[in-house]
Amino acid sequence: MGGACGTSKKKNVSAESNTSTESLKSLSHSLAITGRYHRPPKKLEEDYSVTSTVLGTGYNGSVFQAKGKKDRPGTYAVKGFCLQGIEANKKADLRREVEIFLAMDHPHVARLVDVYEDATQLYLVMECMEGGELFERVQKLKTFSEKDAAHAVWQMLLAVNYLHRHDVVHRDLKLENFLFERQDNDHLKLIDFGFSKVYEADTKMELSCGTLAYVAPEVLFQSYTSQCDLWSMGVIAFILLLGYMPFSGTDEKQKNLIMQGQYKKKQPHWDRISSLSRSFISALMEVDPLKRLTAEQALKHPWIAKRDQSGHRYVTPIGEIEKDPNHAISVLNVDEMTVGALCAFAQASRFRRACMSLMAWSLTPQERSQVRDAFIELDTHREGTISLEELRRVLMEKFELDPHRSEQVVESLAVTNRDCIHYSEFLAAMVSTRISLNENHFAATFRRFDTENKGFLTNKDFSLVLGDSFSNEEINQVVEAMEANASGEIAYDQFVKYLKGDGHLDFEDALTDDQAQDAEGSQGVAERKRTLLKSATDGLADKNGDDLARIISSVQPGGGLSEKDRLLSKQSSDAKSRGCSLQ
Ligand SMILES: Nc1ncnc2c1ncn2[C@@H]1O[C@H](COP(=O)(O)OP(=O)(O)O)[C@@H](O)[C@H]1O
Ligand SMILES: [Mg+2]
Repeated sequence: MGGACGTSKKKNVSAESNTSTESLKSLSHSLAITGRYHRPPKKLEEDYSVTSTVLGTGYNGSVFQAKGKKDRPGTYAVKGFCLQGIEANKKADLRREVEIFLAMDHPHVARLVDVYEDATQLYLVMECMEGGELFERVQKLKTFSEKDAAHAVWQMLLAVNYLHRHDVVHRDLKLENFLFERQDNDHLKLIDFGFSKVYEADTKMELSCGTLAYVAPEVLFQSYTSQCDLWSMGVIAFILLLGYMPFSGTDEKQKNLIMQGQYKKKQPHWDRISSLSRSFISALMEVDPLKRLTAEQALKHPWIAKRDQSGHRYVTPIGEIEKDPNHAISVLNVDEMTVGALCAFAQASRFRRACMSLMAWSLTPQERSQVRDAFIELDTHREGTISLEELRRVLMEKFELDPHRSEQVVESLAVTNRDCIHYSEFLAAMVSTRISLNENHFAATFRRFDTENKGFLTNKDFSLVLGDSFSNEEINQVVEAMEANASGEIAYDQFVKYLKGDGHLDFEDALTDDQAQDAEGSQGVAERKRTLLKSATDGLADKNGDDLARIISSVQPGGGLSEKDRLLSKQSSDAKSRGCSLQ
């Protein structure tokens, strides 16, 4: 990784450095950010060993594959920067990339798991997107079918809509910056926040950046807004469907064509694609940014909204939800297990919920993949967060919980005046019942709190990572409940015991070893899962009476349990997952 020093290719832009940390706060909790940003004595090498395998190369040099050590199993991607002797504006560039990327919390944005900084180096450790660049897949396939192209563009638009809803503009959307999670699936995620910027709605940006082939006309005129990302999305859809670049020739020639919006309609290619896809491309590669579709409008365009979803889990198009809001909510593709898990999560203390959200950053891609579609479905506006209002309606209209009781669940979930559930919080909720927990998850979370590598935790560690979202008094109470020793130190076992100990994570009895799972088979595992969900929500059922109990009890053997649940139970049993599996 030392190679990161001096390997940078040209970066032909100067930096603006007005990232507003305030705006980013709406994106995710500060605690999830502090717990992932490590400074000395923490070192990258303690947690990861970086290999010489190059995953890809961009403006900033190579990105290397790394293996996680200790409690961070699996493969990661490491992007390194040398901080020595670099200009101030470049440092500001980096700081912006790190801040924005750290705050990103969405199923279609690659996860920045850890950041390490010392006086000379900065390393970004990301989940490894093993499926490679969308660019490579297009090179191999030449063109995508209409169905595959629409599915890919839909995923990208979800990421872009999330960014824009939170005032972030990416400014470098292109095939190389969307990666596939695995070779054998088509789950796409956005990377590379090197040119990203937090913007204010009414201000125009001036800096010219991005890659010429994807750059919007107004960027060339140096007066643009977040709409520039939608032009780039138009270029991406164009290439996927037609298999060639919309503009060619010298840079000067390309710039002229872009400014006039004259993309190449080669025959017979152009006429061969569907009229809907032609209308989609024209609506995005529209020179006037005010007439160009926004990300939200693009998600409602019939080419996306009415795309063929066969072979994929059905996700209700937002146009459908808006057309018939009452009916659409009642047929959302969300099951009792998911909603039951959210209700159970609402029951856990604020402190445990915070710890669980931090733990969610240690989940593997496989663990997340079990539940992420449900997150998108519950985010009925496709904004990248589940609004509590949306959840309240789902509880009432789909699961027929009475309004007062639905309100109780929602109120308990509203941590520190926020009105939505972020992806990591959703994952944290799923951890209680739908994702298998093991020692690694606890160990990684403990070490995120242990910023000084002491091997124990104190009030100070919690205050540092939890920031101002918890008062000193609250933290003192928790530390007391964790049974700190006379010096106020909490050992790992005490921390874990506390986290497991409130019913929400009370799965001690359910710890399964391989043999137990083998003996019970998938049905036994499913049964265990139902029992656990029931016990995890008993407290809420007490508060909320029969309605919630009914939601939970509707998860009957072979009945309410979805095909996916059965499959997951089987996979879990097949994989003989070790440790305290809940499935
Ligand atoms: N998380 C990741 N997993 C796998 N490959 C990655 C990952 N991040 C980056 N890469 C590879 O490295 C290339 C360069 O990374 P990127 O973040 O785009 O850097 P740059 O700012 O230099 O363009 C990408 O195009 C991709 O091929
Ligand atoms: Mg890049």
